[in-house]
Amino acid sequence: MKLEHKNILIIGATGDLGAAVARRLNSENANIVLVGRSKDKLAALATDLPKSIQIIADINHEKDREKIFQKTLEKFNQIDVVINIAGLMSFNEFILETDEITNSLFQTNVISPMLLNKKIAKHMIENSSGSIVNIGSIFGSIPFALFSSYSATKAALKAYSESLRRELEGTGVNVSYIAPRAIRTKFNSNAINEMNNKFKISMDDPDFVANEIINAIKLGKKDKYIGYPEKLFVRINALMPRLVDKALKKQNQEAKQFI
Ligand SMILES: NC(=O)c1ccc[n+]([C@@H]2O[C@H](COP(=O)([O-])OP(=O)(O)OC[C@H]3O[C@@H](n4cnc5c(N)ncnc54)[C@H](OP(=O)(O)O)[C@@H]3O)[C@@H](O)[C@H]2O)c1
Repeated sequence: MKLEHKNILIIGATGDLGAAVARRLNSENANIVLVGRSKDKLAALATDLPKSIQIIADINHEKDREKIFQKTLEKFNQIDVVINIAGLMSFNEFILETDEITNSLFQTNVISPMLLNKKIAKHMIENSSGSIVNIGSIFGSIPFALFSSYSATKAALKAYSESLRRELEGTGVNVSYIAPRAIRTKFNSNAINEMNNKFKISMDDPDFVANEIINAIKLGKKDKYIGYPEKLFVRINALMPRLVDKALKKQNQEAKQFI
């Protein structure tokens, strides 16, 4: 898919990855809709992106999801691509995580993107064209200890993306699931960064990941796992999860000190 003059929604544009994706799309000469909750962050981002519009919205509210949909159509008449990047993280022992955090992770990472996609998918099916891009995580395929809720949300997003892609086969609408490994952004707390350093877990630059995401969209990829050897471990975990249990056993115990 050529992205020039395409109308592209970035949900979670004010985050580090979202902003990198927006800048990369600007270089493709796309029409960009920046969505986030913070008016100031949206305005700051938009100064470098002349072909963008901004929508202040919290995806966890139905009226805001409708606003995203309606305002984009008012301005551009058609939505060609939606990239769901907004997300929340939790790094904790599962039994210590508050119910509020568990609920908010599922709401923001899974339910709200699904409900927004429902509106957009109907519109795309009517146009017989479009691309829905859901940003997951390697943790959705290799669930890590102390990231139970986060891993579960990304596994749910992965299953949902695959299911919807199969359901929409032949409609002209592509659904893709893109799973980065760790990225150097504020999404990761100091505790996570310290743990990643200790265990030599690779962290990618947001601009690199944004480039991988845009290339995957242009190529119409159904899914993409970013980073080696992580993409190999995704397959090993699917085929031989006991092997991964063993490999991570010591690390899982040591990781608790970083909480
Ligand atoms: N960083 C990593 O290591 C990593 C690795 C793999 C995958 N990912 C995925 O990449 C995505 C973005 O991560 P990031 O690193 O860019 O994180 P980030 O800098 O913390 O950005 C998170 C984004 O989500 C938005 N957001 C959160 N809740 C929202 C809500 N209710 N309504 C609207 N927007 C909301 C935030 O917007 P405002 O706060 O401005 O409202 C912000 O734009 C996430 O889906 C994450 O799971 C990240």
